[in-house]
Amino acid sequence: MTVRVRAAARKDLPALGRLYARIYAGMKTSERWTVPTATSLLEHWFGAQQDLFAVAEDRNRLVGAFVTAVKPWWDGNHLEGGELFVDPVYQRQGVGRLLVREVFSRAVQKHGATVFEAVTFRTPFHRAWYASLGIQENQDLLWVSGSVPAALKKLARQ
Ligand SMILES: CC(C)(COP(=O)(O)OP(=O)(O)OC[C@H]1O[C@@H](n2cnc3c(N)ncnc32)[C@H](O)[C@@H]1OP(=O)(O)O)[C@@H](O)C(=O)NCCC(=O)NCCS
Repeated sequence: MTVRVRAAARKDLPALGRLYARIYAGMKTSERWTVPTATSLLEHWFGAQQDLFAVAEDRNRLVGAFVTAVKPWWDGNHLEGGELFVDPVYQRQGVGRLLVREVFSRAVQKHGATVFEAVTFRTPFHRAWYASLGIQENQDLLWVSGSVPAALKKLARQ
């Protein structure tokens, strides 16, 4: 395998959007990504934290990426959220770990990052993957989500 990790460039985003949509189309989740929505998501991340956005490349083929963002918190800089994805053909060969190592190293050197926190899928695989890095389910915090228009309707009745 000749995969190398480098900083993402804006010109990578269309190909990364295609890769992201293809990966999620093959996963059992309720999320339904298209190439335009995936590309918009990655453009958002690129705008937010270009310096913590790395891609994995095999010759000229993009095969994965990891991006996260710095959030100043009461105890220092945390890394909050992000996107990590590897082409299924290249999975289980250490590419994911390579991407995380590169971005985490940069985040520590440049931003003094102390903690990574993110939302992930409730599958044994995702729990195990993060646990192998010492990243566990948060015991204090709860992820909530709901419809904004529905909340506005409830608020209008108050
Ligand atoms: C999560 C993901 C990025 C991991 O990428 P990867 O390149 O396969 O990961 P690595 O090869 O670096 O694997 C790291 C460890 O996970 C294990 N692993 C990887 N895929 C696995 C799988 N499908 N089942 C069980 N273990 C797996 C590997 O064995 C490895 O552990 P070890 O080598 O120390 O034994 C990849 O599975 C992916 O893109 N999934 C789809 C998108 C996704 O779920 N992203 C995360 C959302 S939060």
